[in-house]
Amino acid sequence: MKIERLLITGAGGALGSTLRAHLKGRYPHLRLSDRVDLGPPEPGLELCPAELADAAAVDKLLEGVDVCVHLGGQPVEAPWEVILNSNIVGTINLWEAARKAGTKRILFASSNHAIGFYRRSRQIDDEAPPRPDSRYGLSKAWGEDIARYYQLKHGISALCIRIGTCRPDVPDARALSTWQSPADFCRLIDAGLEADYDYEIVYGVSANQRSWWDNSTAERLGYRPQDDAERFADEVESIRSDDAVTETFQGGAFCRPDFSNDPDRIP
Ligand SMILES: NC(=O)c1ccc[n+]([C@@H]2O[C@H](COP(=O)([O-])OP(=O)(O)OC[C@H]3O[C@@H](n4cnc5c(N)ncnc54)[C@H](O)[C@@H]3O)[C@@H](O)[C@H]2O)c1
Repeated sequence: MKIERLLITGAGGALGSTLRAHLKGRYPHLRLSDRVDLGPPEPGLELCPAELADAAAVDKLLEGVDVCVHLGGQPVEAPWEVILNSNIVGTINLWEAARKAGTKRILFASSNHAIGFYRRSRQIDDEAPPRPDSRYGLSKAWGEDIARYYQLKHGISALCIRIGTCRPDVPDARALSTWQSPADFCRLIDAGLEADYDYEIVYGVSANQRSWWDNSTAERLGYRPQDDAERFADEVESIRSDDAVTETFQGGAFCRPDFSNDPDRIP
């Protein structure tokens, strides 16, 4: 696919910053957007601040964009109004603006919390229907459906990436299964940008020995992860919860009935 202009939303965030550095200079135009400051202007970068819930701003943001990597949004559990604005309204605005702009493809940061209520004893693949474990997970399942709808009806190809735990370190025993190194995240984005497909769901996970996810669709698209969380096992093996729900389901603590983003209630 010929890409003249690539847009990254959420470019000021953790994954956005990683991807910004990775993709810099690769395409004629790299457009970065967030509602937080993206730093001083740099040659070759288009800095376009936008609030995703603002449809007019998002329409303008997508003008001239061939491909978008959509990372912007609320990244963990939150009250309904936060999820609604950033992840529901924001996602509608993004795809609708992409349709108007003639954008060809969107790579969508979905989440393991869209399938959090599968048991850890079960291996699942990209055919597994969502089992959201939170308001946040529900919004990601919704995003996967939005992506499917716009692909079928308007031909915008989409890759929905159910990202596990993407960060440089492995924080606990759960992440021995869910971890994706930032380098592997970039490798998966590269595959998603270059491969030929209409709509796919894949897992954002490294080549972890303990992975719960069959990621053969990602491999078919060209993803070749190089990292494995197992090398952190000695350090984090004992970092587990004493809560049965947390330890039973793939989504971990997000599955608890009392889990919320209220600091007083976080287990
Ligand atoms: N990091 C992970 O392990 C992980 C796992 C699963 C899914 N994800 C998804 O990947 C994406 C990026 O995650 P991250 O870890 O970099 O999170 P992050 O919070 O560091 O980055 C998200 C960015 O989105 C921006 N944003 C939020 N709401 C917005 C709005 N309404 N309008 C404009 N910008 C808005 C924020 O300002 C932030 O810079 C998120 O969509 C998240 O749900 C990440």
